[in-house]
Amino acid sequence: MSGERRLTAITGAARGIGETTARRFARGGDEVVIGDMLDDVGAETVAAIEADGGSAVYRPLDVTDEDSVTGFVEAIERDHGPIDVFINNAGVMQDGLAIEDLPIKEHDRLWDVDYRGVYLCCRAIAPRMKERQRGVIGNVASMFGIAPYMVTAYSPAKTAVISLTEILAAECGPHNVRVNAVSPGYVHTPMMQGRFDAGVRDKDRMERSAALGTMTEMRDVAEAFWFLCSDRARAITGVNLPVDCGVLVANSYNAFPR
Ligand SMILES: NC(=O)c1ccc[n+]([C@@H]2O[C@H](COP(=O)([O-])OP(=O)(O)OC[C@H]3O[C@@H](n4cnc5c(N)ncnc54)[C@H](O)[C@@H]3O)[C@@H](O)[C@H]2O)c1
Repeated sequence: MSGERRLTAITGAARGIGETTARRFARGGDEVVIGDMLDDVGAETVAAIEADGGSAVYRPLDVTDEDSVTGFVEAIERDHGPIDVFINNAGVMQDGLAIEDLPIKEHDRLWDVDYRGVYLCCRAIAPRMKERQRGVIGNVASMFGIAPYMVTAYSPAKTAVISLTEILAAECGPHNVRVNAVSPGYVHTPMMQGRFDAGVRDKDRMERSAALGTMTEMRDVAEAFWFLCSDRARAITGVNLPVDCGVLVANSYNAFPR
């Protein structure tokens, strides 16, 4: 895939981590397709990428709807050609709640987007990539999917994304298709800044919990995907790369009972 312009589709890329990743891939020379439910915000992201000299289009997408997902992939490949890179980023967050306090409807909604949505997208794109004997899939998991945190639906859904990543890497590898995940830690997104401003999240505590003493920036996640989806990572498949400024290692290290 080196030397030629790639076609990269990113779900949930109207804003946040997905938007930053879309901008990074466009800056790197890819033609980027942004799939999201936020049509106006998606159009603004496309305009910003084009103003930077990049190439992007927006396509409406609901990752929980199988017809929407298959229609998204079919329309892109019909109008723009084969998708080289597909990044599953769309996701919804959960507040820290004990199991009895999370309504089961909310549990199901989280799984619908955060796991089933990734599954549906992989189910739509992986067979096409296998058939072509080329392609890369990137999945946004979370450090919450690696260690237990107080998010009883979100965490297991992200663990399932990591497991699916490994399974599909094994299944697709013989067809020259790589599948990897990135697990962000506490990311400094505009939404997170809003929560700091509202006093519902503690920035200092998040920073102190990281071995590197700082929060992950959206561009850190984008750079990890940029590498994992490049030919420089041609030997890497089935991994889940934490991009967390060392929260995971610091948590267990600091818990040592001495
Ligand atoms: N922010 C963090 O600290 C953090 C940490 C770890 C992992 N993540 C993961 O990163 C990803 C992006 O999160 P973010 O912080 O940028 O959140 P965000 O809310 O800013 O962005 C998520 C995007 O996904 C879109 N989306 C939601 N449901 C969708 C659906 N059904 N179909 C299509 N698009 C949909 C939203 O419209 C939005 O544009 C998520 O998968 C999230 O779980 C975030």
